[in-house]
Amino acid sequence: MSHCRKSVRFHKLKIIYIFSTAFLFGFLVSPPGGFSAECPQPRKTAAAPQEFYNKANPLPDSPQNIESGQKLYREKLKPLSCTFCHGEKGDGQGKLGKGLRVKPRNFTCSQTMKSIPDGQIFWTIKSGTSSGMPAYKNLADEQIWQLTLYLRQLAK
Ligand code: HEC
Repeated sequence: MSHCRKSVRFHKLKIIYIFSTAFLFGFLVSPPGGFSAECPQPRKTAAAPQEFYNKANPLPDSPQNIESGQKLYREKLKPLSCTFCHGEKGDGQGKLGKGLRVKPRNFTCSQTMKSIPDGQIFWTIKSGTSSGMPAYKNLADEQIWQLTLYLRQLAK
C-alpha cells in the first residue's frame, strides 16, 4: 500500500516536471510577437470606394495567373516586398510586420479573408493603407489581380 502511494506521488512530480519544462521552453523560444499569427484577425483597413469594392477579379484563377501572383509576392517590388510585412508564408509575420502597431493581414486566415472582397484587396494594393502599407503605383492592374488570386489560395 505504502509502495503504491509513493509511486502515485512520484508520478505527480513527473507530470509537474514535464509541464514546467514545457512551459519554460515555450517561453524561451517563443518569438516576441507571440506564438502564432492571429485568426480571426481584427481589421483596421478603411473600406475601398464603391467602384472598387464591388469589382470582381477579371482574371481566371488559372495556375499561370496564380504563379505570376506568387512571383510578384516574393519579388523585390518597389517600394517594399510584400513578404517584408506579410511574411514568406503570408501569415502576417514578416520581419517588419511584427514591429507594426497595426498587424499586416494574415492571408492564411480564411475566417478573415472570406470577409474581404476582391475589389477591396485590389484597392488596398493600389493605394496602400494609413496603417503603414505602401501604395504600389508601379504595378499594372493585371499584376494586382494576379496578386489577388495568389493571396486567395493561401487561405484555402
Ligand atoms: C510596410 C508593411 C507592408 C507591406 C510592405 C505590405 N503590406 Fe499589406 N498590409 C500592411 C498593413 C499594416 C495592413 C493593414 C492591416 C489593417 O489595417 O488591419 C495591410 C493590409 C493588407 C491587405 C488587407 C486589406 C484589407 O482590407 O483587409 C492586403 C490584401 C494586403 N495588405 C496586401 C499586400 C500585398 C499584396 C503587398 C505587396 C504588394 C503588401 N500588402 C505589402 C502592411 C504591409
